[in-house]
Amino acid sequence: MIATAWRSGAPVAEPVRATAAPSAAAGGAAAAATTGDEQPIIELTSASKTFGETVAIDGLSLTIRPGELVTVVGPSGCGKSTLFNILAGLEEPDAGSALRFEGRSCHAAELLGRVAFMPQRDLLLPWRNVIDNAILALEIEGQNKKKARAEALKMLPEFGLSGFETKYPNQLSGGMRQRVALMRTFMFKRDLMLLDEPFGALDALTRTMMQRWLLDIWQKHRRTVLFITHDVDEALFLGDRVLVMTARPGRVKLEQPVTLERPRLPDVVTSAEFVRLKKVLLDAIEEESMKSFQAA
Ligand SMILES: Nc1ncnc2c1ncn2[C@@H]1O[C@H](COP(=O)(O)OP(=O)(O)O)[C@@H](O)[C@H]1O
Ligand SMILES: [Mg+2]
Repeated sequence: MIATAWRSGAPVAEPVRATAAPSAAAGGAAAAATTGDEQPIIELTSASKTFGETVAIDGLSLTIRPGELVTVVGPSGCGKSTLFNILAGLEEPDAGSALRFEGRSCHAAELLGRVAFMPQRDLLLPWRNVIDNAILALEIEGQNKKKARAEALKMLPEFGLSGFETKYPNQLSGGMRQRVALMRTFMFKRDLMLLDEPFGALDALTRTMMQRWLLDIWQKHRRTVLFITHDVDEALFLGDRVLVMTARPGRVKLEQPVTLERPRLPDVVTSAEFVRLKKVLLDAIEEESMKSFQAA
C-alpha cells in the first residue's frame, strides 16, 4: 500500500495498486468470514444522492473487504442502481458523502476504469459477435485485440459459450447474453466487480442455474463482488453478507452475515439455517416494500 495522505477530492497522483494480500484475495469466502479488520477495498460513508426533487439515497454507508461477495437487496426504486453508479464511477454522490477506494479518499469519477461493472441492461452491441463483445472493455483500454480475442476464446467453455464465438447477441438466449456480459466483466480484471441485477430478467429456472454457475466461477477467479438484486433467495444463496436497503431514500437497514458454508450446494436453500436467515431478510424487506408500495 502506498502511504500517501489523502484528502477528499484529492486528485489521483499515482496508480492505485491492488492491495489485497494474496491470502485474502485467494481466500474468497473464508477470508470474508474470518476477518473483519482487513483494509476494505471500498468504503462509502453517509452517502446521499439527489436528482431534482428525488432523494434516491441518504445516509448510505457500506464497506467491502477483499475476497467478499456482498449482496444488496432492496425494493424496486430504493436506490440500488444509484449506489451501483456511484461505486462504478458513473455518478458522483452529493457533497458530504465520503468515498474511499483501497484506503484513499477519492471522487467517484476516479473509480472509472478501476472497477469492473455490469450494468442492469447487458449493453451488448448487436453488431459485434460474442468474442468481440466480450473483449470490448479490453479494447477500449487499448489492449492488443488479437491477444484479447485469444484469451476470450479460451474462456468460452467456462462461460458455457463454446461454439458460439461468432454468434451475434440476437442469436443467443437470455442466459447466454448475460454470460457474455459477465464474461466481459470478468475479462476486465479489477479487484472489485459490481453486478447490478445480472439475472433479474431471466426466468426462475435459468436464474437458479446461473447463480450456481456464478458461484463456481467466483470460487475459481476469487474476485471481490458487490451483487445487487431484488431477490432475497438469490442474495442469501450467493452472499457472504446481505445488505438490506430501506425504501427510498435508500440506506442500509440491515447487514446480515451469511454463515452458510461454502461451497454452497443447491440443496442449501432447504436447510434450516437458510430458511431462518430468509425469514430475517424477508421481514426486513417486506416492511420496506410496503413503504415503497404505499408511497407509490
Ligand atoms: N438519473 C436520474 N435522474 C432522475 N432520477 C433518477 C435518476 N436515477 C435514478 N433516479 C431516481 O432515483 C430513485 C432510485 O432509482 P434507482 O437507483 O434506479 O433504484 P433501483 O435500482 O433500486 O430500482 C428512483 O426514484 C429513480 O427514479
Ligand atoms: Mg436498478
